Amino acid sequence: MKSYFISFEGPDGSGKSTVIEQVVAQIGPHLKTQYLVTREPGGSEIAEKIRQMILDPANHLMSAKTEALLYAAARSQHMAETIIPAIKQGKVIFSDRFVDSSLAYQGVGRDLGIHAVKQINDFATSGIAPDLTIFLDIKPEVGLRRIAKERAGQEDRLEQEQLAFHQKVYHGYQEVNQENKARIKVIDAEKPLAEVVSDCVKIIKTYLPQELLKDWDE
Ligand code: TYD
Repeated sequence: MKSYFISFEGPDGSGKSTVIEQVVAQIGPHLKTQYLVTREPGGSEIAEKIRQMILDPANHLMSAKTEALLYAAARSQHMAETIIPAIKQGKVIFSDRFVDSSLAYQGVGRDLGIHAVKQINDFATSGIAPDLTIFLDIKPEVGLRRIAKERAGQEDRLEQEQLAFHQKVYHGYQEVNQENKARIKVIDAEKPLAEVVSDCVKIIKTYLPQELLKDWDE
């Protein structure tokens, strides 16, 4: 059976993890094939170790290039151990973040340039890309307010960046979304959670190959 690869993107505080959990709970039972839920940075034991290194607030001296290369290294390992085997097994893959995060955060947020960051990621992924990407759209100031409320004092190294950084990342995403309109679908994530989840489910239902779905009437 054919696999299908879906990634979720968005600024910090967009509620991605909760949305993915609820979307998968609604879609999972309607899939004919097995599915996999994974995340970046991470998604394999080695990649999770790299994640800890990247996000550790103690590593404030990390250069932008090192950061970009570590995200790409974690991604390469995630591909080798998790994504490629799942593709071979014909699974539906739901990934919390993928290459677009690097283009927005490192390419634009860290000023490395989308083109340069895309090149190292093409090497890391051998060009394998999601079939569908859902962008959870929330203004950076709203996202940061949510994080401040939920995780006060426990923000990771990236979350600790100032609003100006997150605004650059947001503009980076706009650029990436604009250039990949066929793949990336934008959802208003400032709406109540249940509506955000139902909007995601509708989009996935529309784009997922029908042969992967069991009967779904409502
Ligand atoms: P994430 O796990 O989505 O954050 P959380 O679940 O804690 O909200 O991502 C961790 C951080 O890493 C987030 O600030 C976005 C950043 N990031 C990049 O800068 N580049 C990347 O390629 C990826 C995958 C994430």
